[in-house]
Amino acid sequence: MNGEILYCQDLDGLSHRVAEQFVQLARQKIEQQGGFYVALAGGGTPKRLYQLLATEPYREQVEWSRVFFFFGDERYVPHEHDDSNYRMARESLLAHVPVNQAHVYAMNTASDVRRAAADYSRTIQQTLPLVGKLPAFDLILLGMGDDGHTASLFPRTCILHDQRLVAAVYVEKFKAWRISMTYPLINNAQQVWILVAGAAKAPVLAHIQKGQDHDYPVARVNPRGNLYWYLDQAAAAEMSR
Ligand code: 6PG
Repeated sequence: MNGEILYCQDLDGLSHRVAEQFVQLARQKIEQQGGFYVALAGGGTPKRLYQLLATEPYREQVEWSRVFFFFGDERYVPHEHDDSNYRMARESLLAHVPVNQAHVYAMNTASDVRRAAADYSRTIQQTLPLVGKLPAFDLILLGMGDDGHTASLFPRTCILHDQRLVAAVYVEKFKAWRISMTYPLINNAQQVWILVAGAAKAPVLAHIQKGQDHDYPVARVNPRGNLYWYLDQAAAAEMSR
């Protein structure tokens, strides 16, 4: 299992711990380079984290106008749709802190999906500092599905082999299109934090820890920089410590 594991009591404890580290990293990067480049995770797990960041004591500690918000993936639905990752992040965080709206980069889900993926990739390349030949996020937040997917890198999908930075993928199990960052971009990040909570995730995490991870895309997240797994007790229940 790549990276370092941080065990937390429950989702709330996990979210507070991540919020503390997020604020610390954001302050450090804004101090050092004048901005903080982060890709937010979608799904349900990070929502509590985003809500915490929008409240004291975390809210006041970050110069939000200097944070450049991107998304690790997006469901190909309108931004007002219940399933939209952008909507979830806006309602739990972005609408409650003084962001510079020009620094919030939602994926375009109103045009051709492949064109939207290519445009997003171009925006990232034009906005982020490069490390090696690729743009490098200061931080990419990820979740993990109970099938071992992360972002929209689902098992046995062609996007797992895609060398572009962002790609469109049709997900058969949902009969829906997604746009997602790919391994080349994710693995060029300075830090990747994977947030996993709940008993449904325990079997996959146990298999990954044992190296039985051939079919779990999250197991191939192996960034140039640091990888941290933030796990609550329920998700880590079948792992050996
Ligand atoms: C998404 C996410 C996805 C998510 C996992 C876990 O768009 O759904 O990017 O990768 O992180 O599906 O989702 P939960 O946090 O809801 O369990």
